[in-house]
Amino acid sequence: MLDLGFSSLAGRLRRSEIRELLKVTLHPDTISFAGGLPDPMIFPYQAVEAASARVIKEHGRRALQYSPTEGEPFLKEQLAQFMRRQGDIAKPEDIIVVSSSQQGLDLIGKIFIDPGDPVIVERPTYLGTVQAFRAFGADFCGVDMDDDGVIPEELEETIVRLRQQGRKPKFIYLIPDFQNPSGVTLSMERRRRVLDIASRNDLLIVEDSPYRELRFRGEVLPSLYAMDTEKRVLMMKTLSKMFCPGFRLGWMVGPPEAIDKIIMAKQMTDLCTSAYTSIMTGFLIQDGLLERQIEISKNLYVRKAEVMLRALVEHMPPIDGLSWSKPDGGMFLWVKLPEYMDTMEMLAEAAAAKVVYVVGTGFFADGSGRNEMRLNYSYPSEEKIMQGVERLAEVVRKRVRGGQPQEATQ
Ligand SMILES: Cc1ncc(COP(=O)(O)O)c(C=O)c1O
Repeated sequence: MLDLGFSSLAGRLRRSEIRELLKVTLHPDTISFAGGLPDPMIFPYQAVEAASARVIKEHGRRALQYSPTEGEPFLKEQLAQFMRRQGDIAKPEDIIVVSSSQQGLDLIGKIFIDPGDPVIVERPTYLGTVQAFRAFGADFCGVDMDDDGVIPEELEETIVRLRQQGRKPKFIYLIPDFQNPSGVTLSMERRRRVLDIASRNDLLIVEDSPYRELRFRGEVLPSLYAMDTEKRVLMMKTLSKMFCPGFRLGWMVGPPEAIDKIIMAKQMTDLCTSAYTSIMTGFLIQDGLLERQIEISKNLYVRKAEVMLRALVEHMPPIDGLSWSKPDGGMFLWVKLPEYMDTMEMLAEAAAAKVVYVVGTGFFADGSGRNEMRLNYSYPSEEKIMQGVERLAEVVRKRVRGGQPQEATQ
């Protein structure tokens, strides 16, 4: 048989067990709380159709050509203006356009991570990040979170522990706003402390920020990038959640030396992001359609989040050890079940009851999170959210130890 002689990186590649599991559990009548998808009913396809026609009319030949690796200058100008309106200052030349954040994660892995390198992440963290950095052999050092985000004391302890072993983390990777998966937001006070810890320990922060614009409650907090005075924050943005994921368009901004290396790494990955999509996106931002879409999304997601929270209160059994986060924005909430429950084992029962979620373990590099799960509320309709939570609550109820609980009262 042919010995394909794969590289050591190829040897580290893993199919996401969780994504595979979800594929087989999906039935047409199944209500899925598993994806991280925006609601397609609000995709502004007429505006996209018009912008698309305009690209061909005004920039036809150029839009069908290769473009600079760092991105179309017109788009970068529009992105810089959009960022400014969100409180983030960047010059167009400081921005690199990427094929969405997932490519950004891969490029970060390429330029920073050698096998065995420690990388600090939140516990839990985004599944796609674990997958991307694991391929480069990252040694994940997870730091616990509470309702205010990552816990600074634990962050500091982790850095000290590594230092005692003669190691320095490559960077601190954080999703400060409406984190995927937990829905939790890093508080203002903690933002300052995290920046201070990074500064004292001379560490880079990678701020992954797909959800910040989708705040539907509470006060807007500045990004770590905006608060940073030392150029130690590399911020990743994407249109996927605030506009649509189908464009595969994101951007990064941060320390110039890092952006420079990322440009080189991107050059060998895909040469450039689509000029056609880039120019179209530039028009959409210029015409205010991105901000309009953000408003539409927030108005819808706040209602959906409320429906899910109300349904959880109404249907979940009132038992010790059961709790869920209450997000102020974004697309997810995080459910913790009693420790004796296992969401991986429970998934088959949930799928049989025609409701699915993502099991907690995928979001922990160390395999913990067995009694936890992520629920998405942006994709299903309000009606499906109510039905789905009712089904899920029934599955949980069957697993309660020590007899049937009382009717929910909380
Ligand atoms: C925190 C985070 N980073 C990155 C991504 C990847 O998004 P995309 O590649 O669509 O921009 C996601 C998607 O769910 C995410 O939640």
